[in-house]
Amino acid sequence: MDMITILADKRDGRALSAAQLDYFITEYTAGNIPDYQASALLMAIYVNGMTRREIVDLTLAMAWSGDTLDLSDIAPFVVDKHSSGGVGDKTTLVVAPVVAACGVPVGKMSGRGLGNSGGTLDKMEAIPGWQCDLTVAQFRRQLRDIGFVLAGQSADLAPADGKLYALRDVTATVGSVPLIAGSIMSKKLASGANGIVLDVKVGSGAFMTSVAEAEKLAQIMVNIGNDAGRKTAAILTNMNQPLGYAIGNALEVKEAMAMLNGATNPADFYAHCVEIAAWMLLLAGKAATLDAAKKLTMQTLASGAAYTKWREMVVAQGGDGAYVDDPNRMAAAPFTQPLLAPQAGWIDRIDTGAIGWAAVELGGGRKVKTDKIDPAVGFVFRAKVGDYLEAGESMGMVHAADKAAAQQAYDSVQSAVSWSAERVAPLTHILGIVQ
Ligand code: URA
Repeated sequence: MDMITILADKRDGRALSAAQLDYFITEYTAGNIPDYQASALLMAIYVNGMTRREIVDLTLAMAWSGDTLDLSDIAPFVVDKHSSGGVGDKTTLVVAPVVAACGVPVGKMSGRGLGNSGGTLDKMEAIPGWQCDLTVAQFRRQLRDIGFVLAGQSADLAPADGKLYALRDVTATVGSVPLIAGSIMSKKLASGANGIVLDVKVGSGAFMTSVAEAEKLAQIMVNIGNDAGRKTAAILTNMNQPLGYAIGNALEVKEAMAMLNGATNPADFYAHCVEIAAWMLLLAGKAATLDAAKKLTMQTLASGAAYTKWREMVVAQGGDGAYVDDPNRMAAAPFTQPLLAPQAGWIDRIDTGAIGWAAVELGGGRKVKTDKIDPAVGFVFRAKVGDYLEAGESMGMVHAADKAAAQQAYDSVQSAVSWSAERVAPLTHILGIVQ
């Protein structure tokens, strides 16, 4: 087996065999294939796609690139969720503690920022001391002791995804159905969850820009999960505007913590969290209907039980609990600039991807693998499609390292928003369910 033949096969549109995919994943994970050959293969996959059989073989090879967890001795049913990537998506920070607080263990393997979409691990690291590199033994112990773990890919768990994810982030190979399916489902299979809820984003701020593409991705991932004996459901959600208001690591953690402390705003983010948590509880059999599961979610948020569970997880993973108790201790940007509506009218369209890239430009994401994230920067962007604003009315705030960066981000956000003189309907958030 050699890498040049594999590259030529995929370049010329031939399907790769299970043995070829296994070779690539095993040798790349072991450090025997250089990044330039792996990048070339990623680009060939991006351009030429993969058959369903290839996607399954890729996913399984990635899932088996490290240990796979069997959690049956710890809990009869462990549930997990994963997002296909969006802007302002801090859902895990709210739903995972809700579900764990309802007595359903959550063992979650999350990712870092990818392209213009933020990553849970980068957000969590805004809390000083918190760390995601857990061994299998630590993952299991924490799941048993507090019923809630948020880990990253490690040398033990789905290491192939850890390496490929970082490479895709900087080689313009993120938005590919086979690569997203392999990345997400390898982590889910390796981490041993019995129930998996997939939040598949659709729109200008997502890797899948059409409902048809998102349905295809969702169906492939649901089939992989169900075939592996995991109860899997995918919810297609609208990413044609940022989720909630905050975009940027510390800003998003603060917004999520406010919700764990009982806030029901931003309304779109609250409704989204209730939907995703409810599906997790439903799969786990904690409620008989989706409505009952939603009610349980809302009660758990209002009671403070989710906040308590969140704090336990943060502290168990080395985070400083003082930052949970007082989120204002988290890094704050030295420079802020109000975002003002340039004209009166209804917001017609938001180029959400452009806002995500503006957050990366501010320092909230990476352009090369070695970039260091600035946790403090980003936006609070309150405007939603269908809102009416007067000229000069506040749309939010830019949080930047300096004045020049703030001005650049301000300009990017202004050009990402389109206005209409006619009334515009708000967006529908839930666009479909695949089971
Ligand atoms: N989340 C992942 O874990 N992988 C992707 O490829 C996209 C989103």
